[in-house]
Amino acid sequence: MTDGSPARPGFYATTPIYYVNAKPHLGHAYTTIVGDALARWHRLLGDDVHFLTGTDEHGLKIQQAADAAGLAPQQFADSIAPLFADAWQRLDITNDDFIRTTEQRHRIGVQKLLQACYDNGDIELDTYRGLYCVACEAYYVEDDLTDGNCPIHKRPVEQVEEENYFFRLSRYGDRLLKWYADHPGAIVPDYRMNEVIGFIKQGLLDFSISRTSFSWGIPLPWDDKHITYVWFDALANYITAVGYGTNGDQFARRWPVDYHLIGKDIIRFHCVYWPAMLMSAGIEPPKGWAVGGWLLVGGEKMSKTTGNVVNPLDLVDESNPEGVGVDGFRYYVLAETPYGADGDFTYEGLIGRYNTDLANNFGNLLSRVATVVGKKCNGVGPAPSITTDSARELANAASTAVTETIERWRDVQPSRALEATWQLIRATNAYLETNEPWKSEPGPAVDEVMGNALEVLRLVAILASPAVPRTAQAVWERIGLPGRVADQRVPRDTVWGNYPGGLTVVKGDPLFPRRQA
Ligand code: MSP
Repeated sequence: MTDGSPARPGFYATTPIYYVNAKPHLGHAYTTIVGDALARWHRLLGDDVHFLTGTDEHGLKIQQAADAAGLAPQQFADSIAPLFADAWQRLDITNDDFIRTTEQRHRIGVQKLLQACYDNGDIELDTYRGLYCVACEAYYVEDDLTDGNCPIHKRPVEQVEEENYFFRLSRYGDRLLKWYADHPGAIVPDYRMNEVIGFIKQGLLDFSISRTSFSWGIPLPWDDKHITYVWFDALANYITAVGYGTNGDQFARRWPVDYHLIGKDIIRFHCVYWPAMLMSAGIEPPKGWAVGGWLLVGGEKMSKTTGNVVNPLDLVDESNPEGVGVDGFRYYVLAETPYGADGDFTYEGLIGRYNTDLANNFGNLLSRVATVVGKKCNGVGPAPSITTDSARELANAASTAVTETIERWRDVQPSRALEATWQLIRATNAYLETNEPWKSEPGPAVDEVMGNALEVLRLVAILASPAVPRTAQAVWERIGLPGRVADQRVPRDTVWGNYPGGLTVVKGDPLFPRRQA
């Protein structure tokens, strides 16, 4: 840094890039919202954040979808990719970049990566005979199949025989095991690390990285009869988007990534193939992976055939009287399921969370505080102060909430981070009920209680903002604070006492009108 200020720590996080053969659905939104909340949290910590998402546009699956739609693959991808970008905008996703694998910067980087692995002797020509699932864009061996079908899609796999280039993954087993042994905690939750290690220990097979039977992809730089296997192409997005092959300075600044957020179904590609590909090219492996479970609908995986695909945009539509708004939806997906485990999306669960945590706890706290400040403090928020035991306990609860929220975000556990924050909201509602300021005459005792409650609202607005950014900003403004809550910092040293007092407090409409279950 030239101005003498210390460099801010970087934080780079990614979502998977989504196939453009489907429109954005709840499952895509889930991983993306978790990534967004994590990115927002790190901005509050003061980190120099780079949050990436994008679309996966090459390969047989996309070519087939384009054929079915009667469009050229590029045209087809051009028609779907904006649906993802728009959906993320409507869900208040703050990605810093959006990569499409059909972009030139990506093609350049993929070819550079291929060439580096090839020059290192890890890519060789061979004949592939075996089983392939187009929906997964993945190879299987007999043992992987369920009743002869793909274990994920339960559909028949295809027999294929092709001359392909292979990546010699089999050479990387020991190096991967050593790397993971040296980097405990790189994969969260930790039980996923055991799964990866178990898989590597079974012995790794080489995998094919090229195709000749169709043309929708990136040609190999040394043999343009072959196009790059879509997973080799797709994984590279994480480096091509930050300048690999096109902007060396940016790449040096951003890589290695802090967290790849992924679903459990793509763990082998990300935790086995990808670090081996990087090692082969002489690039450092990622620092971390955060592996999420599936968000099921009615206990089942969403699919077009079952007809249970949930479109998140319907749920957040402000004109839908049964909707819960963007924040209601974001809060639900973050709070309902511990990240890593499978969750079950139900409309009742969504409304239940909304009414309990948002309308009754958070919304009610703000409305009570604003009402009492209006009636007993002339609408001007007093500064916090501590002269009673209950005030001391509240300040302690606030500092516990801040510490725990920090720790739980560090473990990429949004549901537990929010639980720690909501614990403070509940403690504050209890503090008001103990002190009953609405029953007292105006004066220093009421001012103390209201100042302390306002101080909590200030803290909660910051702590909850990664999950419910619009609400956090509204609370911030209603308690009279200037600027943007997103520009604040998580208070790490002095937690308590920064609400200045003397600010106009506005009641306004309910933040979360109750919904009928
Ligand atoms: N294009 C690949 C990823 C390449 S990353 C280099 C892909 N795309 S996908 O669109 O099929 O899925 C992307 C991610 O969405 C996966 O992590 C998958 O787990 C996640 N989800 C898709 N449906 C899901 C649920 N119903 N629940 C949770 N996540 C699921 O795979």
